[in-house]
Amino acid sequence: MSEKFDTLKEIREESLQGGGPKRVQSQHDKGKLTARERIQLLLDDGSFEEIGSLVLHRSNLFGLDKMKFYGDGVVTGYGTLNGRLTYVFAQDFTVLGGSLAEAHAEKICRIMDLAMENGAPVIGLNDSGGARIQEGVVSLGGYADIFYRNTQASGVIPQLSAIMGPCAGGAVYSPALTDFIMMVENTSYMFVTGPNVVKTVTHEEVTSEELGGASAHASKSGVTHLTYPNEVACIEGIKTMLSYMPQNCEEQAPALAYTPGDEKRPALNNIVPDNSNQPYDMREVISEVVDEGTFAEIHKDFAENIVVGFARIGGRSIGVVANQPAFLAGVLDIKSSQKGARFVRFCDSFNIPLLVFEDVPGFLPGTDQEWNAIITNGAKLLYAFSEATVPRITVITRKAYGGAYDVMNSKHIGADMNYACPSAEIAVMGAKGAAEIIFKKEISSADDPEAKLAEKEAEYAENFANPYRAAARGYVDEVILPEQTREKLIKAFKMLENKAVKLPRKKHGNIPL
Ligand code: COA
Repeated sequence: MSEKFDTLKEIREESLQGGGPKRVQSQHDKGKLTARERIQLLLDDGSFEEIGSLVLHRSNLFGLDKMKFYGDGVVTGYGTLNGRLTYVFAQDFTVLGGSLAEAHAEKICRIMDLAMENGAPVIGLNDSGGARIQEGVVSLGGYADIFYRNTQASGVIPQLSAIMGPCAGGAVYSPALTDFIMMVENTSYMFVTGPNVVKTVTHEEVTSEELGGASAHASKSGVTHLTYPNEVACIEGIKTMLSYMPQNCEEQAPALAYTPGDEKRPALNNIVPDNSNQPYDMREVISEVVDEGTFAEIHKDFAENIVVGFARIGGRSIGVVANQPAFLAGVLDIKSSQKGARFVRFCDSFNIPLLVFEDVPGFLPGTDQEWNAIITNGAKLLYAFSEATVPRITVITRKAYGGAYDVMNSKHIGADMNYACPSAEIAVMGAKGAAEIIFKKEISSADDPEAKLAEKEAEYAENFANPYRAAARGYVDEVILPEQTREKLIKAFKMLENKAVKLPRKKHGNIPL
């Protein structure tokens, strides 16, 4: 018997070697870790249980008969992450470039099936040369099997994708179907077609990094939600993100212990400037209001006129969506609407309450916006808020103008509570623009048109540049001093913790895509 045991030991040992020491060294030389090293950093010590470590590919074409590696280029299994069950697959670039074919794809699918059946997140660590060229169409079929599962799992279990090397061609669509993409700077890239094809088709000369590196996708395309300077930071980032999420859509995110104390935050009284055209950083407001140091921003460098991220308040996990007056005056445009909508839908899928800070001058005008469909894209944010059934609270810090007032989680579209600060201005538009339109004739025929405009502007501002008309109608539940915001929110979120709303029965809605 001991001989048989020895055989198993030898096979096991071989399966742990990946593509061998030379390829492992080359991986390290590129500043990258191996699949197993990544998993070891990700999961709690000693908790990883591998599944399918002895799987082999089945093709003998193009020399593959001489290149069989245990595990077929992907390490799959489960373990615990901060004590909670987590499924993981990590592509092993040292084995056939981490390329994906039949057996490799089946292993990933198995992990996803288990994750769905058992209600726990799936983390994908991507590092692959794409479809295994030698295996042909079975590789493409393998991708599609994964895409299908990504879609079925969407909204059921959290799916996170870390890109830690190449991710090109069809391979990009699995991460794109998951909830969040994180990329490692300088060692990862994603594109549908690489620089060579780009050059042939469009005559553009571009490097892989410029075309699909972490910074391009963080700031230009918005494809990636988070970027990190190295793999260790990226893996820590995955842990942080998961700490705000429940295991699946039937559960609540874990709450941390909270000891009530003095929740007044006088610093909040001095953040919003008196001059309503002066910018300020909404992140300062967020940081003062939420539990100290808990704000984890997402999509930081994309559509900076809206800020989104997870945080905790009174120990509970929440999603924050905030206009950012420090960038483009916090205006809503196509990209910020897309960014906000996607985050709102994630939070709603996974029972994470929403907190909105509002200071918005309206939607961005112009042909660029209109012709690229600000109407459809703005409607995404409106739709996402309107369908969200999680507890939803809005705090209007300053401007709430025009249609953007409705869109930014107003009570009319289902928000539970709406607070406004005394500096709030809730109106169809700013006082100057309003006066110019409704008193046009009076102003142009006046002896001193400028003085007339100023007079009418002041008249309009007195009537509408405040929160009291909205409060008189109950559109705003309470006008509060800024320093009271945190205290009010902790109580209101607690009050709403058992909120239950039933939507009309439907197959699924038709969000304006
Ligand atoms: N199918 C099969 N093997 C692949 C592969 C693929 N799609 N991509 C990479 N490999 C293999 C290479 O043959 C090489 O094997 P070896 O270690 O036995 O020599 C190994 O993976 C490493 O690849 P290499 O090209 O040396 O690494 P690199 O870091 O210089 O380049 C890529 C990485 C991804 C840019 C490059 O391998 C590439 O262009 N691959 C093809 C990408 C593609 O077109 N995929 C199909 C479309 S989805």
